Amino acid sequence: DCELCIMDYFILLLLLTEPDFIKTHCTAFKPLGACNNTKLLVLTVATQETDGFLRFMQSANYFNYTIKVLGMGEEWRGGDVGRSIGGGQKVRLLKQAMEGLADQEDLVVLSVDSYDLIFAGGPDEILRKFQEANHKVLFSAEGLIWPDKRLQDKYPAVRSGKRFLNSGGVIGYAPFVNQIVEQWNLHDNDDDQLFYTKIYLDPQQRESLNMSLDHKCHIFQNLNGAIDEVLLKFGTERVRVRNTVFDTLPVVIHGNANTKIYLNYLGNYIPNAWNYERGCGVCNHNMVDLSQLKYPTVLVGVFIQQPTPFLSEFFHRLVTLDYPKDKLKIFVHNNEVYHERHMQRFWEESKDIFNSFKVVGPEENLSQGEARNMGMELCRQDPGCDHYFSIDADVMLTNKQTLKILIEQNRKIIAPLVSRHGKLWSNFWGALSLDGYYARSEDYIDIVQSKRVGVWNIPYMAHVYLIKGEVLRNELTERNHFVLEKLDPDMALSRHARELGIFMYITNRHEFGRLISTANFNTSHYNSDLWQIFENPVDWKEKYIHPNYTQIFTENYLEQPCPDVFWFPVFSERACDELVEEMEHFGSWSGGQHEVRGQHTLRPLMNCDFGCSLQGYSVTHCDLGCSLQGYAVMNFVVKYTPGRQSYLRPHHDSSTFTINVALNSKGIDFQGGGCRFHRYNCSIESPRKGWSFMHPGRLTHLHEGLPTTNGTRYIAVSFIDP
Ligand SMILES: *[C@@H]1O[C@H](CO)[C@@H](O)[C@H](O)[C@H]1NC(C)=O
Ligand SMILES: *[C@@H]1O[C@H](CO)[C@@H](O)[C@H](O)[C@H]1NC(C)=O
Ligand SMILES: *[C@@H]1O[C@H](CO)[C@@H](O)[C@H](O)[C@H]1NC(C)=O
Ligand SMILES: *[C@@H]1O[C@H](CO)[C@@H](O)[C@H](O)[C@H]1NC(C)=O
Ligand SMILES: *[C@@H]1O[C@H](CO)[C@@H](O)[C@H](O)[C@H]1NC(C)=O
Ligand SMILES: *[C@@H]1O[C@H](CO)[C@@H](O)[C@H](O)[C@H]1NC(C)=O
Ligand SMILES: *[C@@H]1O[C@H](CO)[C@@H](O)[C@H](O)[C@H]1NC(C)=O
Repeated sequence: DCELCIMDYFILLLLLTEPDFIKTHCTAFKPLGACNNTKLLVLTVATQETDGFLRFMQSANYFNYTIKVLGMGEEWRGGDVGRSIGGGQKVRLLKQAMEGLADQEDLVVLSVDSYDLIFAGGPDEILRKFQEANHKVLFSAEGLIWPDKRLQDKYPAVRSGKRFLNSGGVIGYAPFVNQIVEQWNLHDNDDDQLFYTKIYLDPQQRESLNMSLDHKCHIFQNLNGAIDEVLLKFGTERVRVRNTVFDTLPVVIHGNANTKIYLNYLGNYIPNAWNYERGCGVCNHNMVDLSQLKYPTVLVGVFIQQPTPFLSEFFHRLVTLDYPKDKLKIFVHNNEVYHERHMQRFWEESKDIFNSFKVVGPEENLSQGEARNMGMELCRQDPGCDHYFSIDADVMLTNKQTLKILIEQNRKIIAPLVSRHGKLWSNFWGALSLDGYYARSEDYIDIVQSKRVGVWNIPYMAHVYLIKGEVLRNELTERNHFVLEKLDPDMALSRHARELGIFMYITNRHEFGRLISTANFNTSHYNSDLWQIFENPVDWKEKYIHPNYTQIFTENYLEQPCPDVFWFPVFSERACDELVEEMEHFGSWSGGQHEVRGQHTLRPLMNCDFGCSLQGYSVTHCDLGCSLQGYAVMNFVVKYTPGRQSYLRPHHDSSTFTINVALNSKGIDFQGGGCRFHRYNCSIESPRKGWSFMHPGRLTHLHEGLPTTNGTRYIAVSFIDP
């Protein structure tokens, strides 16, 4: 083994003349220039493994720093440093650690905070920059003075750069750092920054200990008061922070004071969390494999806070989640009298499926915050509750794997990204305004639209999220995390989590589902979801449009049973049933020749897409198809029963063409029925439920409704372009 820390030119000589000697004899080869005996040791104080600490360690390990953690497991007595003075405990621990290192002249010690700090570069870079600074000790600098403003005049003036000392980062040769910290004889809750400041401001010590500040952020970037001067700098390998005022690339990024949220944002990228070339670099860290574990027990808290469309679909998705049902305990808070019948039906159908099932109804008159506290408390109090999964009834989880995926991601708090279809409205915020409300982060749109895919640390989440049971029992331990001042419950929870330093993540690594709109949900109809076509078009289509409808266009899934009569699926069974129910519920059928109801219900279907796409079918039908862009004036449901109106004699329609959808099933609901086109001597005697005929209304297509001989037959008819 050869000691490579000889003079650079000698290595160069060897490389040129004896490359094989280098290869065979040298196990470690440091780049030229980094070649001296100086070593870097990082010292940090952390009494708990907070999320911030784990992030710090992750970045440190990524760059192969040598780290020594001081105080782990010790009680923190340093005060609430974020809000007031304190932190003396850190100096005491550093003083103890330095005692054994004081005589190592080649050792450079970097003492940094850890909960709110991320490395953006490696140890070689720090050492190089430190040596270039040509001092024995270098403190990080900031533009704001703290904690004693009266000391301002004692600070040396700087021509450009930050003038004041920040104790979140200090780097120096071990003997010199030791000479500073050995002066500590105060209490754990005295202020560390004031202690260092006083030493620095003493002109004699400043000179004898050869101290300075990193005025231009070559090494240390404190974010407080400086958010506007930093930008992300994306590279192909990793991401850095650039200080645009000094044009430097700081290595130690410190989210001091109120800049934690911004640091979290930066931490979604630096050093290797996400970049354009490689995407997410940390998403697979610490994941668990559920196939290896026995499935953990999850308490699912369901919240129905307002009249919510498609609730039965919501319940159905819950029941069909791909997760062992005996591991799921259900808690539902239903705040709406309107939904009590839906709730009752769901409970009867599935109470035996789940491990347990508890419902709190509107009669309890709970506020939203109280109800959410109650659900969370059920998990907290139950040592067997491994996870608490909170979901609001307006979240349509289309991904059956959602719960598994979230558990496998293994974070304290994680939410699946869901958004309104085609909208930017989602269940998280990327930033907060000064007063704690929504602010748009630079990356918000890219995340919602999945142009950036990963697991993102965020300041606010709502609607659906998973929290570990142990976090409820050890960290989020209050009974009323959902109640805080006048905040919405989710804002209150998010603020509590932020203040406790628990990271909230949102993942868009998979598609999970969507948020539906509960606005404009008029519950005064019999089947109120039928009216949701404009408010929630995707859910409406899923529920009411025949599953094979789109195949009309993609696979020519239509038939022509008689000349110029096209036959294709339109409505789902559910749509047919609800339309009939809706008509019967309305009750009064017109007394005219045939029983007719409705004007509005079919209108939604009369958009041009199924007309125009018939264009390709044959030239003669092009015009016919395109005229579907036309205007549907007469939309109604006809009811045929023997004894009342059982048939319709031959007639033309007052339309350019007609759409005629069978709403129930021959042989099941009625006998007979059908439609006969006289000119072609052609009948369709077996109408299919949910399928539509489309035929010209006048001249060529004289037609009659064949008699219904038993039961009741319903059809929905639209006259297009009368
Ligand atoms: C850290 O060390 C590992 C193993 O020696 C190495 O593969 C990796 O490239 C190093 N990382 C950096 C950023 O130097
Ligand atoms: C600090 O030390 C360096 C050498 O390490 C020396 O060049 C420089 O002049 C010293 N500065 C002061 C202010 O003493
Ligand atoms: C429900 O609670 C609210 C506020 O807590 C209260 O004003 C209201 O009177 C309560 N209603 C009933 C029916 O108890
Ligand atoms: C809800 O629907 C009913 C019945 O169609 C109607 O009378 C009422 O005006 C609607 N309410 C709203 C707020 O649109
Ligand atoms: C949809 O079409 C497929 C064949 O393409 C058929 O097997 C299936 O039964 C159809 N679904 C319905 C609901 O009719
Ligand atoms: C109509 O078709 C039926 C069989 O489908 C046939 O028996 C009858 O003769 C046809 N009538 C005419 C007028 O073509
Ligand atoms: C009419 O339908 C009812 C019930 O669907 C059935 O009981 C009866 O036998 C049917 N009558 C005829 C003549 O098919």
